[in-house]
Amino acid sequence: MVLAEDLESLKIIALMGGCRGPVFASSQVLAGALVTSPQTASRRLKSLENQRLITRTMNPDGQHITVTKEGEEELRREYAEYCRLFGHEGGHYSLSGVVVSGLGEGRYYMSLEPYKKQFLRHLGFEPYPGTLNLRLAGSDIPIRKKIETLTWIPIKGFSTEGRTFGGVRCLPCRINDISCGIVVPGRSHYPEDIVEVIAPVGLRDDLHLKENDRVNIEVAYD
Ligand code: CDP
Repeated sequence: MVLAEDLESLKIIALMGGCRGPVFASSQVLAGALVTSPQTASRRLKSLENQRLITRTMNPDGQHITVTKEGEEELRREYAEYCRLFGHEGGHYSLSGVVVSGLGEGRYYMSLEPYKKQFLRHLGFEPYPGTLNLRLAGSDIPIRKKIETLTWIPIKGFSTEGRTFGGVRCLPCRINDISCGIVVPGRSHYPEDIVEVIAPVGLRDDLHLKENDRVNIEVAYD
């Protein structure tokens, strides 16, 4: 997890224009912007660089600093949390779908510790190992598309034991008053009529769901 002081420094560099391209600054200017000594400023930049949140090239009179895609993602995550803190209830979308079986891969992915930890932090629960797949009625697909424009929480990918696991995004939702999350894999193309839901509990057991039973998902937005 990124330290608060690193995140603060990252935000300041982004505010200087670092997400759009390299910003050039002397160590004096950087120390001033980060409101700290040049030594501390340099330590924070090194730490951001080590975490691959920025890239930089050093010149004798200063450095060019760019916020990386990972750095920007880190800031977006923070932003999404503030939206959840201060966003006023704007309304909600309802989606309805029937329970279908998938390939049985959800169980494996949702058992991986780095995903579990991030879901706990961002959704407030460790997911039951699996994803409940729901097939939407055609008439709900436009609502699914509107939901696409809300602020989703990015869950980072990671590598372990020689395998790479991709990033995922998720959106908090509720099913029968249970806090759940819609999850969508980062890159792959995804069928538009399928929604995958994670929850703190086994929803099939908890809600006595069988194949083809109808389930309503509520998504609140600001
Ligand atoms: O791919 P499929 O949905 O069939 O399987 P999975 O994602 O590996 O999930 C294992 C089983 O748990 C499936 O039957 C899911 O429908 C179910 N499940 C559930 O009941 N509640 C959840 N919160 C997640 C999955």
